Parts: sequence; structure tokens; C-alpha cells
Amino acid sequence: MALETTANIWHNGELIPWEKAQIHVMSHVVHYGSSVFEGIRCYQQGQSAGIFRLREHMQRLIDSAKIYRMPLPYTLEQLNEAVVELVEANGVTPCYIRPIAFRGYGEIGVNPLKSPVEIYIANFPWGKYVAGHDGADVCISSWNRLAPNTMPSLAKAGANYMNSQLIRMEADVNGYVEGIALDTNGYLSEGSGENLFIVRGGVLYTSPLANSVLNGITRDSILVLARQMGIPVVEQSLPRELLYICDEAFFTGTAAEVTHLRSVDRIMVGNGKMGPITEALHKAFFDIVSGAAADRYNWLTRVKVRETAGEPVGA
Ligand SMILES: Cc1ncc(COP(=O)(O)O)c(C=O)c1O
Repeated sequence: MALETTANIWHNGELIPWEKAQIHVMSHVVHYGSSVFEGIRCYQQGQSAGIFRLREHMQRLIDSAKIYRMPLPYTLEQLNEAVVELVEANGVTPCYIRPIAFRGYGEIGVNPLKSPVEIYIANFPWGKYVAGHDGADVCISSWNRLAPNTMPSLAKAGANYMNSQLIRMEADVNGYVEGIALDTNGYLSEGSGENLFIVRGGVLYTSPLANSVLNGITRDSILVLARQMGIPVVEQSLPRELLYICDEAFFTGTAAEVTHLRSVDRIMVGNGKMGPITEALHKAFFDIVSGAAADRYNWLTRVKVRETAGEPVGA
């Protein structure tokens, strides 16, 4: 998807013009993948806008950085305020927000500890991520998800996405919109950038964190909504073939939101249409983010919406 620019990017505490947010080719991250990042959506609610689960996303950024011994010189509150400041300055809603922390220009060599930590936050318009209004046609990938104790799956690290790229490219060249990877024990894990849910016999299943999945914030939101709606929820290791015989299946993710699966490996999921449990959860999720229902879990951080896009403030 082509990137649409906005006026400002937040860098280490100040707003700088979009085109000045550049790094040196010898930065540690370019060579060794030493970055952690987030993806967050800001939704429009009529004349207002709200950032979805900002605190949880920024806490996950802090957690990812901690796993990689990357000190972030900002508190959770400061990072949240930075996001609000940026979105309000750029005046572009709805939007996708991309905070990233990485090891910058300093030393060469694998050890990152003496390379400085840089933090940038950008925001830009971004629409639907997983294609298919009538459901996504996906495959099981020949690539496994990250093995335990190799690359930590709970860290949302840039380097993890080399594995995701292999999954996504393979799906693409074979004519699918997305691939689902198994973990190294052959259990269902997740898509290249989405968590996976399955419905069978009225029960909602999803893989637990031990099956090499990211601790998805949309996943958590769906679990909260399902429990509140009285849908039985089971987090357990799931065999691949459950996907072929389930009644419903869907992806969750900040980018993918709630996207139902129409087929897996060309086998129809249920009758191929969005099933009733997926539909109920999809509606409950979109009712909250669109403002049609009350924000009863306090998931939205309000931002002021401007009439026109902002100008660079730090030029
Ligand atoms: C590998 C992977 N799994 C799952 C998710 C879904 O997580 P979230 O709902 O927090 O966006 C993402 C997206 O961030 C992802 O990249």
C-alpha cells in the first residue's frame, strides 16, 4: 500500500517535518533489525476521533523494548501524550499510528548496547489491510512461526517481520490474501500480522500465547467482548485441521480489524459467509470504535479533530 504522508513526525520529544525524519545507512537497525514498534488505529466518530487502546499499545512497546534491553527514556504517560500531540498537530483522522524505537547510529557489530535508542512516531491514513469484502481466501504457510526461545514472539520487533514477510509473500505468489503459520510443534499459530479465531459448535477458540503468537490487542478486545456476550471462549493449542471443519474463522489485528475467512487452502470455511458469532463480535467491535455504542471499557483516547490537515510545526 502506498504511503500517504502527513506534516509532522514525532522524534525524541519534538515534532519534525515528515521529510526530515531520516536515519544514516550505518544505523544499527539497518544491519541487524534492532527495532520494536507498534501499530495503532485512530477511529473517526462523527466530528470527534478516538485512538483505540493507546495505553495498551504503548505498554506493549515498552515491554518489547524491555525484552531487547532497549531503554526508552519516556514514561507510558509521556509516550501517550506524544501520540495525541502528533495526531492533533497533523490533523489527519482516521489514521494509523506507527511508533518505532530502534538502535541508531553509533557502533558497528551485533551488540546494540552502545548504539543510541531513537524513538519516532508517525501517523498516516491507512484503509483495509486484508483484502476481500466477502471474506479472505487464505492458506496454511509452509513457513513455521518463530520457535520458542529463538525470537521472542511477545516482542513486536521489526526482525520478527522477516518471518512474516516469508509467510505473506508465499501466500501472495500462490494467489491467497494471507498465510497462517503453524508453530514449530505443528499447532495453529497466527497470520503474518493477525491473530486467528475459530468457531465450532458455538465455542470460540484461539491459540494461547505459548503457540508463538503476538499478544494482540484486538485479540484481547475480542476475548473481552465474547466473554461479556456469554460466548464460551477457549484458549488452547489448536490442530490445523480444525480450520477445515470449523463453522467460522476470522483474523483480528489493528490493521486487519475483524476479517472473516472464506476459505483455507481452498476448503470453504462453513458456508463461506460471515457466520453469526463472527458477525456479532464484528458488530460489537465496530460499534465501539465508530461511536455507535458507548465506550464502556474506556478503550478510546479522544483527540481533537481539525478542519484541515496540519502544517509542519518544527520546520
Ligand atoms: C504477528 C502479529 N500478530 C498479531 C497481530 C495483531 O495484534 P494487534 O491486535 O495488537 O494489532 C499483529 C499486529 O500487530 C501482528 O503483527
